[in-house]
Amino acid sequence: MLNNNLDILTEDLAPRLWKELARATQDRHHDWRTPVLATQGLAGIGPQARTVVLRQAEAATWTLRVYTDARSPKCSELIAEPLAQFSFWSKRLNWQLRAAVSSSVYTEGDLVNAAWDHMRQSRSAADYLSALPPGSIQSSQLPTQESSNDSLIRHHLAVLEFKVLAMDWLALGQGNHHRAKLTPAGLIEWLVP
Ligand SMILES: Cc1cc2nc3c(=O)[nH]c(=O)nc-3n(C[C@H](O)[C@H](O)[C@H](O)COP(=O)(O)O)c2cc1C
Repeated sequence: MLNNNLDILTEDLAPRLWKELARATQDRHHDWRTPVLATQGLAGIGPQARTVVLRQAEAATWTLRVYTDARSPKCSELIAEPLAQFSFWSKRLNWQLRAAVSSSVYTEGDLVNAAWDHMRQSRSAADYLSALPPGSIQSSQLPTQESSNDSLIRHHLAVLEFKVLAMDWLALGQGNHHRAKLTPAGLIEWLVP
């Protein structure tokens, strides 16, 4: 079925969304490369939202992955409450995508080793090598730890893995918007925007 005034067949919508997500992991200029990840804060501090880089998007398993410092508050938050939400906005596409996810935090194992092998050569390696945890109060005198190619260096990279439970897609048009709910089981429901 072709949805009114929208050039996407209903059955093509999920593949198209995953294609854009996969592109975003490769293309630094793709708006969906830097979604907002919202978690439940600890101890009643309320929701916590922050920008992250989307590193991996697997259409076959509806899985997203993000790298972070294992000591960052978002890790403790996701361990305490795995349900979280991503919000992606693309000005080019005029699309918002909200993904409800269930999270797993990996601080060791194959996923982490593969991610570190990739990251340690990059400019972002220093993000995972700081002596103090993210969010610590920093004295300007503190030396910053240099990144190194030494494979034995102690890093703090964690892989956050998210199974997408449902997606809420909103396409803004001139006067007529489109909205759909999609699930990994193949459900697609067109919603009033
Ligand atoms: C464009 C951009 C990309 C970012 N990417 C990441 C990322 O991939 N992983 C990450 O942990 N923090 C990333 N950050 C920093 C987070 O937004 C946040 O400030 C930090 O992780 C601390 O979050 P927390 O205290 O809620 O754990 C990014 C920030 C910006 C502005």
